[in-house]
Amino acid sequence: MPSPASAFAAENHARFLDELKALLRIPSISTLPEHAGDCRKTAETLAAELKRIGMEHVRLIETNVGREGHPLVYADWLHAAGKPGAPADRSSAAGWKPTVLMYGHYDVQPADPLDEWKTPPFEPTERNGNLYARGAVDDKGQMYMHVKALEALLKADGKLPVNVRVLLEGEEEVGGEGIAAYVASKPADLKADFALISDTELFAPGLPTLCVGLRGMIYTELEVRGAKTDLHSGMYGGAAPNPFVALAQIIAGLKDREGKILIPGFYDDVEAPSAEELAAWKSLPFDEEHYRETEVGSKALVGEAGYSVLERTWARPTLDVHGIPGGFIGAGAKTVIPAKATAKVSMRLAPKMTPAKAFAQYKSYVEQIAPAGVEVSVRLIHQGDACLIPVDNPYIQAATKALREVWGRETVFIRSGGSIPIVGDFDRHLGLPSVMMGFGLPDDNLHAPNEKFNLENFRLGIQSIIGFLEEAGR
Ligand code: BES
Ligand code: MN
Ligand code: MN
Repeated sequence: MPSPASAFAAENHARFLDELKALLRIPSISTLPEHAGDCRKTAETLAAELKRIGMEHVRLIETNVGREGHPLVYADWLHAAGKPGAPADRSSAAGWKPTVLMYGHYDVQPADPLDEWKTPPFEPTERNGNLYARGAVDDKGQMYMHVKALEALLKADGKLPVNVRVLLEGEEEVGGEGIAAYVASKPADLKADFALISDTELFAPGLPTLCVGLRGMIYTELEVRGAKTDLHSGMYGGAAPNPFVALAQIIAGLKDREGKILIPGFYDDVEAPSAEELAAWKSLPFDEEHYRETEVGSKALVGEAGYSVLERTWARPTLDVHGIPGGFIGAGAKTVIPAKATAKVSMRLAPKMTPAKAFAQYKSYVEQIAPAGVEVSVRLIHQGDACLIPVDNPYIQAATKALREVWGRETVFIRSGGSIPIVGDFDRHLGLPSVMMGFGLPDDNLHAPNEKFNLENFRLGIQSIIGFLEEAGR
């Protein structure tokens, strides 16, 4: 027998989907200043919806860390019995209910390159059982599953099975400094027992998955300066340093041909996964050749020798270059020695590595290997800690139970190579374990053209969240 809330969600599903489409039409691209108004509008739309469904203390929280921030959205409903964190022996307190902090992000990545989208990024379109739009899965669609699960519970039962706080942010894709500062101030409004986040993916279609580890990251910019101004490359070539060549030499010195990062000490703190966890990864349904062909689409896979793809992407630090802006990039030719060159370089960090130490090691190594004649400066743009979630807590148990009911299969535990910096902050500052229950798919094209969310996953995701909250309240 489906619960009243799950029946409510089933009956109202078409409307839920229409509402999600309306949300996806607002281009809430956090990194582009010209979309600041759209970010705010998205926050206001979500706040109004949370109010409408019966959540309380709904408000926007302004964030101002340096630049103009996009607001957080807060709401709560705290009328189930009990207080977070109390009593010491919870099992003995009849009627005690936990408090969940439900997190999601309403900001999205830029949509470019636009001409690769089959339908426009901000005109959500259904095709082959998927909803295509920027933010469909990362994270508006997944965040909205939480809102709709809460609506179903409130409308069908007149109450929630646990105490709920909702915290949504609009700067996840640009480092989330605003929410990090807010969480670090340990506001009473965030007192809870665990966090629930849907911003990850299923390991395979139809396979319920909990993500229990994420990599951390440092995102940096390297600037190399040579001559005091741009110079004629015929007159000065042979005497003036070329910052692009210097940059290429520096970048080439960061990794060897086998994918090993050459920064001294970089691997010192890396914690290897346990034998048990590695064994569990081996039994996941993963075909490296299929992955190479369908997901990556390159001639070969690369990376550190001696580690499997899952180890390399989930548990090892890596380094990538994202762009090298600067110099002459117009059509045709221009014979110039540019005065400066820049590169965007990021590193993914394994658990136990710290962003501060990794950045210091990287910076001093870059300064050391920079060729003669150029000056380099190394700037940290943003950072985030890795996280590893303990799985022996009642919330993970409740989650696997609820997932079994909805999906009819046992849950697999995976890690992910991506980063959600706030998960580490929830642990460090608020002492909260996170349940990362995401419903994306590996081929959902996050951050890329033709991002999609599988419509069945949107439906089953809402059912899973409802089931999980009901189970957590039992
Ligand atoms: N939702 C992703 C992270 C993710 C993707 C986790 C896939 C698990 C599976 C998140 O929105 C994201 O893109 N994070 C950024 C972090 C950053 C900008 C600080 C990332 O990983 O690049
Ligand atoms: Mn995300
Ligand atoms: Mn993202």
